[in-house]
Amino acid sequence: MQTFLVTGGLGFIGSNFILKARKKLWANIINLDKLTYASNPQNLEDLQNDSGYHFVRGDIGDIELIPHVLKQYQPDTIINFAAESHVDRSILSPQDFIQTNVVGTFQLLEASRAYWEKLSLQKREQFRLLHVSTDEVYGTLSPTDPAFREDTPYAPNSPYAASKAGSDHLVRAYYHTYGLPTLITNCSNNYGPRQFPEKLIPLIILNALNGKPLPIYGDGQNIRDWLYVVDHCEALYLVLKNSSIGETYNIGGNNEQTNLAVVEKICAILDELAPKPGLCHSCLITFVKDRPGHDRRYAIDCSKISTELGWQPKEDFESGLLKTIQWYLSNLTWVEQVQSGAYQSWIQENYGDRETVLS
Ligand code: NAD
Ligand code: DAU
Repeated sequence: MQTFLVTGGLGFIGSNFILKARKKLWANIINLDKLTYASNPQNLEDLQNDSGYHFVRGDIGDIELIPHVLKQYQPDTIINFAAESHVDRSILSPQDFIQTNVVGTFQLLEASRAYWEKLSLQKREQFRLLHVSTDEVYGTLSPTDPAFREDTPYAPNSPYAASKAGSDHLVRAYYHTYGLPTLITNCSNNYGPRQFPEKLIPLIILNALNGKPLPIYGDGQNIRDWLYVVDHCEALYLVLKNSSIGETYNIGGNNEQTNLAVVEKICAILDELAPKPGLCHSCLITFVKDRPGHDRRYAIDCSKISTELGWQPKEDFESGLLKTIQWYLSNLTWVEQVQSGAYQSWIQENYGDRETVLS
């Protein structure tokens, strides 16, 4: 069986990817994660007795650790999920975004190139580095613009989007300059189980359950394309298995929704699943000051991945939202521990103050 080095695997999409990969036995997994605020060891506690899963605490930008990990575990594939991922945080404090998303990706590429160059010819040909990126690199659309295609020019508008655009350009350059067998995917907004509750959908679910205001930026008419996280993970695996090196693919849900419509749908489901006497959840909707530079609309044209690799999103939005809300309702301990930061004590017990673990 192959070995995948997954970075950022304790976050939202990475943990869903690893759970799927182990369930379907796609590969053995080495998960390298820095354990930032957005990670959660509980996301993968079901794998604690799985001999095909191994965790390493560390930073993708650590120039000593990454070569050591590559030498020790000899992965056939690297999947880079590790990033600072929240747009609002990038506006308040861009430093970490540049450090991890740009410099960290650069260091990971450098270490990967050195590792790949020393592999046998057969292993060099099999090796892939898949960089998981975002549709936000393409900037914003008007209501009548065509959806983003792989050849849409990059025009990032937030520090987050700019940092991801920078990382995409580096990955592309390592393919063209050094021949490193890279792949890039640009995906729309994911939703589903285990998403950190700073992002719109889990934030709204949890505020509504707690009877708190539901903040909607601006007029609520900004549009995002929503994709169920498991569909994204399956697309990533297909890209890894079946695409040619150097390719990029857009991945999306064919599911454009205004933010207001998303919040109203969540409220309607909660009115059924968790009714509050005398209260409709949508009464909690509160329009608040807009996000600076807020992109108006994202839309993805995923005809390339659909035609070339036969991928289509499977989950429809209503059933995906229902599953997501049911997951949060059934995992209130996860929520409580995320909100209290309780996993910090797990880190302390397992790692003390060590930022990396070299065995
Ligand atoms: P997340 O914030 O939930 O998780 C990120 C993970 O990366 C965390 O576990 C964190 O500890 C880890 N990490 C951060 N900095 C690190 C570093 N320097 N070294 C090692 N690990 C580090 O993010 P997510 O929503 O799961 O997104 C994963 C990837 O997918 C990101 O690259 C993001 O840009 C991209 N993406 C996300 C979405 C989305 O809707 N969430 C959509 C498209 C693309
Ligand atoms: O498009 C892909 C991107 O989707 C990913 O690359 C990012 O990592 C991910 O965080 C997400 O970015 P967004 O900025 O689109 O996601 P967020 O959940 O923060 O916001 C979704 C929309 O909802 C956006 O238009 C802003 C709005 N919003 C968000 C929050 C947190 C609100 O109206 N109120 C809120 O409280």
